[in-house]
Amino acid sequence: MLRRLIREDIELETVTDAKLGTVKADAGQIEQVVMNLVVNARDAIKAGGRITIETANVTLDEDCVREHGGARPGAHVMLAVSDTGERIPSDVLPYSLNRSSLPKRSVEVRGLASRRCTAS
Ligand SMILES: Nc1ncnc2c1ncn2[C@@H]1O[C@H](COP(=O)(O)OP(=O)(O)O)[C@@H](O)[C@H]1O
Ligand SMILES: [Mg+2]
Repeated sequence: MLRRLIREDIELETVTDAKLGTVKADAGQIEQVVMNLVVNARDAIKAGGRITIETANVTLDEDCVREHGGARPGAHVMLAVSDTGERIPSDVLPYSLNRSSLPKRSVEVRGLASRRCTAS
């Protein structure tokens, strides 16, 4: 289904944790979130690139929680959508996530992924 949302010049990669914890969530809403992030990622890739959907068990520490309003420390399940496209424009970035929280990785991580503090 996601494949149909993106173009042929974009590779879709999934990195999943086989021992992923379980969460109580509305499957339809999570699907919608992933679709929205993938569409944003697709639009950010101008000519060829890769979108990665990743899940992992992560632990949020106090520092991370301080940077992310609404987050609580402890064990969480991370859902991250990253892309090799252009960065979020600097005038938009403050509204999407805290700049200092951008993980030090070669690709951009956004949306729900902004909560991945300890996984970067
Ligand atoms: N993956 C991304 N890469 C680069 N910029 C992004 C990404 N996701 C969002 N943005 C930027 O954030 C803006 C707001 O995104 P969004 O709230 O989904 O609204 P829309 O996609 O309708 O513009 C986008 O217009 C784009 O400039
Ligand atoms: Mg969008």
